[in-house]
Formats: sequence, structure tokens, C-alpha cells
Amino acid sequence: MRVLLFTGKGGVGKTTVAAATATLAAGRGRRTLVVSTDTAHSLADALGVPPSDAPVEAAPGLHLQQVDTQRSLERHWGELRDYARDVLAELGLDEVTSEEITVLPGAEEVIALLELREQARSGRWDVIVVDCAPTAETLRLLALPEALDWHVNRLLPAGRRLLGALSPVIRHVAKVSVPQGEVISAGERLHRGLLEVRALLAGDDASVRLVLTPEAVVVAEARRTLTSLSLYGYRVDAVIANRVFPAEDADEWRRRWVEAQARQLAGVHESFAPLPVLTVPYLPGEPVGTEALARVGEELYRGRDPFARPDVEPPLRISADELSLRLPLADRDDLDLARKGDELIVTAGSHRRVVALPAALARREISSAALRDGRLRVRFEAGGAR
Ligand SMILES: Nc1ncnc2c1ncn2[C@@H]1O[C@H](COP(=O)(O)OP(=O)(O)OP(=O)(O)O)[C@@H](O)[C@H]1O
Ligand SMILES: [Mg+2]
Repeated sequence: MRVLLFTGKGGVGKTTVAAATATLAAGRGRRTLVVSTDTAHSLADALGVPPSDAPVEAAPGLHLQQVDTQRSLERHWGELRDYARDVLAELGLDEVTSEEITVLPGAEEVIALLELREQARSGRWDVIVVDCAPTAETLRLLALPEALDWHVNRLLPAGRRLLGALSPVIRHVAKVSVPQGEVISAGERLHRGLLEVRALLAGDDASVRLVLTPEAVVVAEARRTLTSLSLYGYRVDAVIANRVFPAEDADEWRRRWVEAQARQLAGVHESFAPLPVLTVPYLPGEPVGTEALARVGEELYRGRDPFARPDVEPPLRISADELSLRLPLADRDDLDLARKGDELIVTAGSHRRVVALPAALARREISSAALRDGRLRVRFEAGGAR
């Protein structure tokens, strides 16, 4: 099963491109689900179907699900409440109400992730396309399982035990499993669910496509997004430039746009290399409905196979004496590195990731750290226990 996530600044065409990709997948015989958490129902509008909380068929082989966070909250309430209770109990507080749960960081995002996991586990889909919220929220959403991981690790001794048994690398690829019949708390179950989502989204079959329009402000944001997605361990496998003005028969007004966009596009190719930059022309009307969307899909991917496994290695690499993290377009001045026991805290701009060091490195001192060619390399001293 292939998972494709689309993100980018507000209004650049995420929903359109996600819907076009999903339509193409279904047209090529893949059982496809396209998911959105957007309360504005744009995805349903683009596909011309009524919004539905359960997967509804929009075209042969193409299903759409519009996650209703309120209804999902009710459905997952038990799990969430128990989780919140565990966390709050550790903090010395005892009761939690449904109003209070929303103050927990990222409650809505947790819900969307749980829905995604259920669909992924159902075995019903060959391709799941996720139409993500605009950049900032998406990053929060994607970082959430790991952020919670960190809290739970601290707060729940059981969580610590569960995680301790798995190295970060194994956690990455393996589904966490427990022996049959073992009794585990709802909080732990939720936590494990989130780890599964994280493994799914950062796994070998998932990738993120960054959507932008060739405009200075949008491109600047896309660059920062690429850095933070990589920081969190997600693979970006393409950049999609939408609303590119055709150069043919341009009047003076359009000619200026064509020139300005060409300059931006040249910059995009240069800074995002080696990622492919795919383009969608500015169409004479809104691409709405499966026919128009399928055409956008064909135009977008041309000869490429959009559903092949991403040909991008995971950003985090750990060897016997080095930890390295790909941070494309990261600015040295915005980067910070801190060591806290067996964890490495990497900050890039306003984003932070806590990397749990494997036992072999956790015992050793850091000898050097450098950012070179878009990769942060942290070297550890040979042997010597701390
Ligand atoms: N290449 C294009 N040519 C013409 N119209 C387009 C093109 N791409 C998108 N549109 C139109 O632009 C509008 C915004 O696109 P879309 O909803 O896909 O953006 P979005 O990034 O999902 O926005 P939001 O951040 O609000 O979710 C829609 O009306 C869509 O039909
Ligand atoms: Mg949208």
C-alpha cells in the first residue's frame, strides 16, 4: 500500500493535486482512498460528491473520506480519555472532562491520525492520498506521534518499557506488537496506535509531495517546509509547481507573469534539486470533477509512475559512530543541537525533533557536529563510556 501526502501553503492547489493524483490512481485500477480533514469540504466539492465521514465512492475505485473530527472524537473518546487520565495523573491531576481534553496538545490531529491508521489497516486500499492542512498544521500533525512519544516516555513508565525494547530504527519499520492476551491500558494502546501511524507515514511506502505556486513568498515557505519535513524524518519525493502560466500567445500582462514565474521556477529547480519539479499549467477554469482532475493528473506526472515506491532514502541514518540527518536548505544560523542524556535534540528554525540515541551511541561523547551539503553529521567518540 502506498501513502501519498500533499502539503503546501494555503490556496496553492493541495486539494486539487491530491484529488487529481487519487483520480489517476483509481483510473489505473488501484483501489484508492483520498482523505481530507479540512472542515471546508473542498475535496468533496472538487470531486463533486457530498462530504461523508465514511469512505464514499466518487468514481469507480475512488473513495473519498472527509474526517469529521467532532464525530471521531466521540468515537475515540474512551481511548483518549484514558490516555489523558494517565497523563494527567502523572502530573498530579485526576479528573478530565471532554472540554479539558481539547487543551491537550494536538487533540484534533490525534483524531485524524487515528482515522488514517484505521483505513491503512483495513486492507481495502492500494493507495491512500492525504490532502493535508496548510503547512504549519501539517507539520504539527506529522510530528505529533513523536512528540507524544517523548511526553509518554517521560510520563508513563509503561510507555518507557514498551519503547525501550525497540531501537528507533526498528521502530521505524516494525509494527509494534504485544503477545496475545496481554492486558494493556487504553493509554498505551493509543500510544502504540500513534507509533504505528508514525511508522506508516515515515515508512518506505509513504512520501510527501510539496505543492507550490511559482511566487517568491510561496517558494520561501516551501523551502522551510522541506527542511522541517526532513527534520521529522519524512521523505519528500517531488515538488509540484501549480498554476504555471502558459507562454504561448501571451499579452503584455501575461508575458510579465510568464517571466516572473520562469525566474521563480529556475530558483525552485536549483534549490530543490535533486527532487523532480512537476508542473501544472494555470487552466482556463477550475479543475472540478473526476474528468478534469484525471486530465490534471495525466499532465502532472506525464511518463512517471506516481505510485512507485519513493526513490528517496530516509533522512535519518545511524551508523556505528555517526548519526546523520538530511536537512536540505537548512540554515546554519537557525540550527541548534543539544544533548540530553540518551537523546539528541535537533532544532531547525521553529521546529524541534528529539532523536532517541541507540544504546551504542548513547554511552559515548559527541566528538563533532557539522552541517555540510544539506546534511547534519554528528560524530561520536570511539569506544569510551560516558
Ligand atoms: N492549475 C489550476 N488552474 C486553475 N485553477 C486551479 C488550478 N489549481 C487549483 N485551482 C483552483 O484554485 C482554487 C484553490 O485550489 P485548492 O482548493 O486545490 O487549493 P488548496 O491548496 O487545497 O487550498 P486550501 O489551503 O484552502 O486547502 C480552487 O478553486 C481550484 O479549483
Ligand atoms: Mg485544500
